[in-house]
Amino acid sequence: MPQIKNVLAIETSCDDTSVAVVNSDNRVLSMESANQDKDHALYGGIVPEIASRNHTYTLLPLVHRVLSKAHLALQDIEGIAVTNRPGLIGALIVGLTSAKSLSMALNIPFIGVNHLEGHLLAPFLVDDSYAPPVDFTFPFLALAVSGGHTSLYVVHELGKYEIIGRTKDDAAGEAFDKFAKILGFDFPGGVKIDQLSQTGDPGFVQFPRGMMSESSLDMSFSGMKSSGMRYVQSITEDEKNKNMNSICASFQEAIVDTLLGKLDLAYKKYRIKNVVLTGGVSANSRLRAKTQEWAKRRQITLAIPPLRYCTDNAAMIGIAGIQRLNRGEMSSMGTGPLPDYLKSDFVNEY
Ligand code: KG4
Ligand code: ZN
Repeated sequence: MPQIKNVLAIETSCDDTSVAVVNSDNRVLSMESANQDKDHALYGGIVPEIASRNHTYTLLPLVHRVLSKAHLALQDIEGIAVTNRPGLIGALIVGLTSAKSLSMALNIPFIGVNHLEGHLLAPFLVDDSYAPPVDFTFPFLALAVSGGHTSLYVVHELGKYEIIGRTKDDAAGEAFDKFAKILGFDFPGGVKIDQLSQTGDPGFVQFPRGMMSESSLDMSFSGMKSSGMRYVQSITEDEKNKNMNSICASFQEAIVDTLLGKLDLAYKKYRIKNVVLTGGVSANSRLRAKTQEWAKRRQITLAIPPLRYCTDNAAMIGIAGIQRLNRGEMSSMGTGPLPDYLKSDFVNEY
């Protein structure tokens, strides 16, 4: 079977517009992303219509920019990879329709990619300043933590992804953002909590760690969010301002303890020595530091892709897409956007 040398990858599942060119050695030849945080901050969360509209403005200019940065013309592209699930339907439609149009115009195959598969394969991406740890390979455990998802996986091989635990309610990033909002910070407030926590006392308030006494790998963050809200309501504005950094550090610690507690439980259950931490929340300095300490203690090979490949990005869609195209898969023009995964995207047990 003739192998495709490069793909143009498009990601528009939520509020980030991202385009990349990825080759069959997993190398990112170029990537350009447009962030919309400012446009949604006013509303305290993502407004789907604004997200879709912004994708329509930014997508094609980004396509031209990545091609020129990779020194390629549209005619040099051999395949298109695009996120078609899960995500906001209007946002997905913008990327998917553009991908289908390019595929038809250039007469090259396209493939619709499960966004989560992208996150799981991101550690294998390569560029001038990142490569996966030496010997990092399948199978591995993955903790994917973002504003929209918080799950634990065993990644057996390309296309064999087993979900072994997931949040029962809020995603960890959502808990960060909601607590930040309670404290009066702009959306998304996770990074603000991280910054203030640097000089705070993580033992100042004991927020609950959800489902930690259970043997299940599922997680919960809504209890700690409600407890955080009750705590903030119970103190005065002066007390809040005086102790802000320690309140943030305590809340952050509860989230980090929960995530790391479940990751350790997964390790004890599966004894897999390769682990990935990914998703936007992996930017959190405390989570990174504590996960690195944990991996050292357990003699685990830990891959934390750089933030550009942890947050929503097109390179991760490119790696999933080119690998699938090169094993003979492609999507038909009838492929539509889906708000959820396909059942076949994940195996329950393997
Ligand atoms: O993966 P991502 O860019 O988008 C999706 O949600 O899919 O993740 C964004 C999330 C937001 O909830 C944001 O507050 C959180 O990641 N985040 C952080 C930090 N940086 C981003 N949370 C805690 N600490 C950070 N430094
Ligand atoms: Zn994501």
